[in-house]
Amino acid sequence: MNTGDLPADRQPIAILLHGASGRMGQALLRLTADDPSMRIVAAASQTVGQRVVDGIPQFSATELENVPAFDVAIDFSMPAAFDSILALCLERGVPLVCGTTGLDDTQKSALAAASTRIATLWSSNFSLGVAVLTALAESAARALPGWDCDIVESHHKNKLDAPSGTALSLGLAVEHGGATPRYASLRAGDIVGEHTVQFTTAGERIELIHRAGNRDIFARGALHAAAHLVGRAPGAYRLADLIR
Ligand SMILES: NC(=O)c1ccc[n+]([C@@H]2O[C@H](COP(=O)([O-])OP(=O)(O)OC[C@H]3O[C@@H](n4cnc5c(N)ncnc54)[C@H](OP(=O)(O)O)[C@@H]3O)[C@@H](O)[C@H]2O)c1
Repeated sequence: MNTGDLPADRQPIAILLHGASGRMGQALLRLTADDPSMRIVAAASQTVGQRVVDGIPQFSATELENVPAFDVAIDFSMPAAFDSILALCLERGVPLVCGTTGLDDTQKSALAAASTRIATLWSSNFSLGVAVLTALAESAARALPGWDCDIVESHHKNKLDAPSGTALSLGLAVEHGGATPRYASLRAGDIVGEHTVQFTTAGERIELIHRAGNRDIFARGALHAAAHLVGRAPGAYRLADLIR
């Protein structure tokens, strides 16, 4: 989201980017570089080479305590890194936008508990198209009782968690609609992300498909969420609430 020029009295939103060296982190850095309404004030990764890159101070996982003041954190890292970014946001009393998938139940509970003290928004998929796919899938499940429901997802071969977080979120949606989903996962090449929700019965089949062409769609959604969360009361915000 590029909000263009700022009114003279508005400071850009100061963002801590956690997972900055990763594929999503690099997309976020590129998009914010052109956006006067936002500024990455610190970039954190597991390990750090240079101390400053393009004017942005870099912090390793063991140096998070030292990051300067920020208005909101955006986290696209790994489950092993989640506890420390959540702890930092709680300690500083600032919102957290999190897209990291593969969190375990303890981490999900910790995020829910944190939401009573800070504003949080976790989403398995920050694209507008997947938000619409999720609503369509739930509605189809409701209209097709007794049909088989299969969720098939494909991602690049470096993705660790399976089924993807998005597939599991789609599964929850169709469960709300009364279906019992089954999952299949493919890991191949450099696929950014594809999700198919398939409803099948004797003689007919419906396929709802979303294909992500690049990571900017997720990065834009996360930046939109970050701008929305700054200054908000504590709570577990949902992406769906932001795009209505
Ligand atoms: N919600 C969505 O819309 C969405 C979209 C795409 C991806 N994702 C999820 O976002 C996450 C990141 O994806 P990606 O493709 O960007 O991954 P990636 O390229 O592997 O990057 C991972 C990042 O996390 C950092 N990291 C790993 N372990 C860490 C630790 N213990 N402490 C601190 N930092 C650590 C890495 O730092 P080093 O480089 O120093 O190791 C790197 O900066 C994954 O969970 C992925 O599934 C979500």
